[in-house]
Amino acid sequence: MAQAKMVKEKRIAKPSVKKYHNYINGEWRPSASGEWFENTNPADTSDIVGRFPLSDKTDVNNAVAAAKSAAKRWRLTPAPKRAEILFRLGEILRENKDEFTRQMTREMGKVLKEAGGDVQEAIDCTYYTAGEGRRLHGFTTPAEMPNKFAMCVRQPVGICGLITPFNFPMAIPSWKSIPALVCGNTVVIKSGEDVPLSALNLVKSCEKAGIPPGVVNLINGHGEDVGPTLVGHKDVRLISFTGSTGTGRIIAEQCARDNKIVSLEMGGKNAIIVMDDADVENAVEGSLWGAFGTSGQRCTASSRLVVHKKVYKKFCTQLVEKVKNLRVGNGLDPKTEVGPVINQAAMEKILSYIEIGKNEDKATLACGGNRLSRNSHKNGFFIEPTVFTDVRPNMRIAQEEIFGPVTCVIPFSTLDEAITIVNGVQYGLSSAIYTQDVNNAFHAMQELYTGICYVNSATIGAEVHLPFGGTKNTGNGHREAGTQVLDIFSEWKSLYVDYSGKLQKAQIDEVEI
Ligand code: UN1
Repeated sequence: MAQAKMVKEKRIAKPSVKKYHNYINGEWRPSASGEWFENTNPADTSDIVGRFPLSDKTDVNNAVAAAKSAAKRWRLTPAPKRAEILFRLGEILRENKDEFTRQMTREMGKVLKEAGGDVQEAIDCTYYTAGEGRRLHGFTTPAEMPNKFAMCVRQPVGICGLITPFNFPMAIPSWKSIPALVCGNTVVIKSGEDVPLSALNLVKSCEKAGIPPGVVNLINGHGEDVGPTLVGHKDVRLISFTGSTGTGRIIAEQCARDNKIVSLEMGGKNAIIVMDDADVENAVEGSLWGAFGTSGQRCTASSRLVVHKKVYKKFCTQLVEKVKNLRVGNGLDPKTEVGPVINQAAMEKILSYIEIGKNEDKATLACGGNRLSRNSHKNGFFIEPTVFTDVRPNMRIAQEEIFGPVTCVIPFSTLDEAITIVNGVQYGLSSAIYTQDVNNAFHAMQELYTGICYVNSATIGAEVHLPFGGTKNTGNGHREAGTQVLDIFSEWKSLYVDYSGKLQKAQIDEVEI
């Protein structure tokens, strides 16, 4: 798919399509090669959102050089001042929310309400993190010697390469760039090639807010053309990546060789447990949005519904009835409930998982399962919301990340069995339990080995002031968002200040008491 979207300038027929640029050293520039790619609407591929620079390693090297030349000035700008500029960025994003929302739906496909939520996450992240400019707390502690202070402060790590996916086109670039900036780093952003306009809107807003040239740089293009240069660049100190576990592992290997800091947010196979004492209607509603919101293209999507045998039939009947009624279409239509998936390759992968599910022993395709390609769906990548029931925990559809509008219902008999099922996958991002019993709720919160856990709501909807991330193959121990993200983008420096004015013997010997 990546290649299919790549179009050389001379082959592009429609001159009316708007051209956008990379942002390097405070300038909007085409790619060094002069080549472009098209950004199309996944709900209607005849709708071309814009042409973007097809960058290669020269553009990456230029962006990193710009980030390097701006690093000292930004690092020495007092943090409250950096934060003041970031607060202004929040204001600009808020003022442009409606326009950014529409543009996001057009390039990414998710319905307007969800795209608005995505822009709002960027706004919330910006306001919240800007507040850190007046905190960025370190600590003091007693020193071993008289007339001596000991303290610890955060220092920026340097140049950060930020690689972001298609599913949260503005929120995720903001979760990475805003904390990096408040800590005093400079950044090079490489956003998902299917959604370049939303990251560009964020960066344009950074420019308007007064972030100095070179502090934020944006490279457009395909991961395979620019990713390795960014990840392997000797001047880049940190890589923050959100995307597939496979790509994350390759990045981590390269970073290990170069001794770079690396923060990874990767796959998920999140589950909701529905107990026999749950409010079933509420659980069905939560599962519906957890599984099919953003067409299932969230790392936090509720792709497994683990349901107690006593309420299994009732739950499945209600769920399937609601899923069949979901309106699938162009996200720009306010009546649409589920948009397209992002591109042809994604559609094919999801449909192939549906085939796998159909062939897996004893799973039942309860609804959906097909591509929608007639009438208003004919130019887009639409898949019917799909539910498999009678799924066993070890089936491929219950183990592997599908990243599409497909969910599996798995029956169980005891809470401990359900917990074993939920924990029995390679990922550990988000989990949930629907129950009215406080003991069940606390037992599950204790035992579910995920970075996020919900009670009586679905696995999606994380808020920007709490740490976000997962266990096992979902991440590498870091957490984005909250104040915890500061630990990714800053390094501790311990400071010892001796004001005794003399060489204290005990500093080189033992302390005498
Ligand atoms: C992701 O899918 O990568 O909790 C992020 C949620 C959103 C973020 C999802 N706030 O579902």
